[in-house]
Amino acid sequence: MRSKFFWVSLLLIPLIVFACRDDDSNGISEGDLTHIPFDPQTYKLEIPEGWPQMEIPEDNPLTYEGVQLGRRLFFDPILSVDNSISCASCHIPEKGFSDNLPIAVGVGGAVGRRKTMSLINVGFNNNGLFWDGRVQTLEEQSLHPIIDPLEMNSTLEESERRLRDHEEYPARFRKAFGISKKEEITSDLLAKALAQFQRIIIAGGNSIFSRAMRGEIAFTDAQWNGFEMFFDANLLTLDAECAHCHLSPLFTINEYLNNGITQTERLEDHPDPGRGAVTGRLGDYGKFRTTTLFNWELRNHFMHDGRFKTMDDVLDHYNSGGHRPSDPDEDNVDLLIYPLNMSEIERYELMEFLKTLTDTSFLSNPDLQNPFDGN
Ligand code: HEC
Ligand code: HEC
Repeated sequence: MRSKFFWVSLLLIPLIVFACRDDDSNGISEGDLTHIPFDPQTYKLEIPEGWPQMEIPEDNPLTYEGVQLGRRLFFDPILSVDNSISCASCHIPEKGFSDNLPIAVGVGGAVGRRKTMSLINVGFNNNGLFWDGRVQTLEEQSLHPIIDPLEMNSTLEESERRLRDHEEYPARFRKAFGISKKEEITSDLLAKALAQFQRIIIAGGNSIFSRAMRGEIAFTDAQWNGFEMFFDANLLTLDAECAHCHLSPLFTINEYLNNGITQTERLEDHPDPGRGAVTGRLGDYGKFRTTTLFNWELRNHFMHDGRFKTMDDVLDHYNSGGHRPSDPDEDNVDLLIYPLNMSEIERYELMEFLKTLTDTSFLSNPDLQNPFDGN
C-alpha cells in the first residue's frame, strides 16, 4: 500500500518542474542575480601590536567576499586591454608586491615613468598614494593603472563590459556588494574590491625587528648597533638619520621630501618634478614620498626611478650625502642628508639591522595567493 503522501508528492512534480523552468527563463539568463545569497562576512584584519589603526572608508568596509573578489581581480589579466597583464604582473607578491625592474613595463612592452611601488602595508599610507601623492585613496588609485596607456591601457567601459559578460564575476559582485543584476557592476565597485584586497597586504609584524621589540628574540650585537644608528638611540654611536624619515612601526613617515639623489643646480631642472607637479610649487620639485623599508630584501632597484640596484648602492648614496645644489635658493634637499662618513664596521652593522626588517610570513597568507594557481 502506498501512503497518501506518495500520491500527493506525485502531484507536486509538475509544479516543481514548472518552478525550475520558470527560474531558468527569468533568472540567470536575464542577468537577475537575486537568487544568489548576499550575506557578506566581516573580514578581520590582523594588525600587528603597536601599529596604528588602518583608516577604512565607511562606504567600503572590509568583507571576506569583497577581499576575495579583489584578490581575483588583482591577479586577473582581464583588466588589461589585450588580456596580457594583471596588477600582479608588476606587483608580484614574492617581490614584496613590486617587481625586478628599475622602471615598470606595461602592455606591449610600454615603458612607464617610474619604479613599481611595493604594496606592503599600502593600506596605512594615508598621506597620498603614488610616489608623488597625486591620489588620496586606494579606491581612487585602483582605476588609474587600468586606463594608464603605459600600464594596462584599457578603459573603464571595457572593463565593466568584460566583467558583466563574464561567467563568474557577476555572482562574485553579488556576493560582495549585493547587486541584483549584472548591469550594476560598475568601475566604482571594481575599485572598491581592489582596494579591499590591497588593505589586507600587511607585513612586518613577524620580522626579527618586531619580534625583538616584543622581547620574543634577542638582537645580535651587530643588529643592536645598527638599530642604534638607525634610530639615533645612543649618543655614542653614529647617527645615520634614517628613522627621521623611515620611522617605525611602518618605517615610513609618508612625507614628500628630497633625499638628494638627483644632481640639479636649479629646482626646475628636475627630470621628474615628483610632488612639484602635483602642488605646482617649485619648492616641491624633486620631492617624493618616503616608502616603507619592510621587506626591502625582497626587492631591488630602489627609489622612484629605480636608480639604485641594491641596498649597498642606497647606503653609498646616504653615506656620501648625495647631491646638493650650490645656490641655497635652489636647494630643497632635506637637512638630514649630509655625508655620514660611516666606517666599514658601522656600515656592516646598519645593514645587519636593515635585514631584520624582512618578514616573508605574508607569502603564506592564503588570502594573498594567486587564485588562478588553484588557491
Ligand atoms: C605596468 C606595471 C603596473 C601595473 C600593471 C600596475 N601597477 Fe601599480 N604601480 C606601478 C607603478 C610604476 C607605480 C608608481 C607610479 C607613480 O608613482 O607614478 C604603481 C603604484 C601603485 C600604487 C601606489 C602605492 C603607494 O604606496 O602609493 C598602488 C596602490 C598600485 N600601484 C596598485 C595597482 C593596482 C590595484 C593595479 C591593477 C589594477 C596596478 N597597480 C597595476 C606599476 C604597475
Ligand atoms: C630626509 C629624509 C630621509 C632620510 C634621512 C633617509 N631617507 Fe630613505 N628615502 C627618503 C625619501 C624621500 C625616499 C624616496 C625618494 C625617491 O624615490 O626619490 C627614500 C627612499 C629610500 C629607499 C628606497 C625605497 C624604495 O621603495 O625604493 C630606501 C631603501 C631608503 N630610503 C633607505 C634609507 C636608509 C637606510 C636611510 C638611513 C641611512 C635613509 N633612507 C634615510 C627620505 C629619507
